Amino acid sequence: MTMDTAPFLNVRDVVMDFGGIRALDGISLEISRSEVKCIIGPNGCGKSTLFKVISGDLNPTSGQVSFAGETITGLSPQKICHRGIARKFQVPSVFDDLTVTENIEIAMTAASKHYTPFGLLRGGPDRSGYGAVLAESRLSEFGDKLASELPHGIRQQLEIALLVVTDAQLLLLDEPTAGMTEEETDAIVNLIKGVRDRLGVAVLVIEHDMSFVRKLGSKVVVMMKGAVLREGDYAAISEDAEIRRAYLGDVEPC
Ligand SMILES: Nc1ncnc2c1ncn2[C@@H]1O[C@H](COP(=O)(O)OP(=O)(O)O)[C@@H](O)[C@H]1O
Ligand SMILES: [Mg+2]
Repeated sequence: MTMDTAPFLNVRDVVMDFGGIRALDGISLEISRSEVKCIIGPNGCGKSTLFKVISGDLNPTSGQVSFAGETITGLSPQKICHRGIARKFQVPSVFDDLTVTENIEIAMTAASKHYTPFGLLRGGPDRSGYGAVLAESRLSEFGDKLASELPHGIRQQLEIALLVVTDAQLLLLDEPTAGMTEEETDAIVNLIKGVRDRLGVAVLVIEHDMSFVRKLGSKVVVMMKGAVLREGDYAAISEDAEIRRAYLGDVEPC
């Protein structure tokens, strides 16, 4: 039973100093298997730094990160990626001069964990559970299009799909809907729900847009000055006066 109740990702008292700047100030955070959590907070509060510590791109000054019951602090980004944590814009990336289908096939082949990398978007046999997620994502409509020709929102879906088909168990998405229309944003929300519900993937997502957070319906972690200020569901967080102040402070011109 302890396996099921232990946090999937466990960030403990992590401090990250850049010279005189303390970007993370003893932050602790947990996420369960198949859970989606949003991180919000003003610019410069340490959100991206937290992701880089989890992914191994930064070695924390102190504190610990464990994943699936094992300490990963200090491991290389490649090793952490192999353990099943995928940060968007890390690996693999989109090949612009290949089609959507080819990009997905290459990512799956590179991961080389599957019997049938080919034809998923065309309805081929699917032993992995990816087929339904891809079909729901609208990527199937763009299967033969070059990645360079994709609308912005579809390209973002492809980037997330490439992380998923390499068997990532935890996705780290840093502002995945930046610059998107509402319709494109909704598609990302559905894709995240799809990978959670159909594949059991956990997703930690940094997001500015509170309507995205509401639609996702997940727990929200509010960061301030390198630490967790509050955690709760959307309703509790959006009604919290201190958070509203902090958040409004973020959008007001300085
Ligand atoms: N590589 C770096 N070198 C020095 N300072 C950094 C570096 N990366 C981030 N910082 C600083 O750490 C703080 C947190 O940055 P960041 O994690 O990017 O914030 P957020 O993603 O919440 O906007 C900021 O003050 C930023 O200037
Ligand atoms: Mg950032």
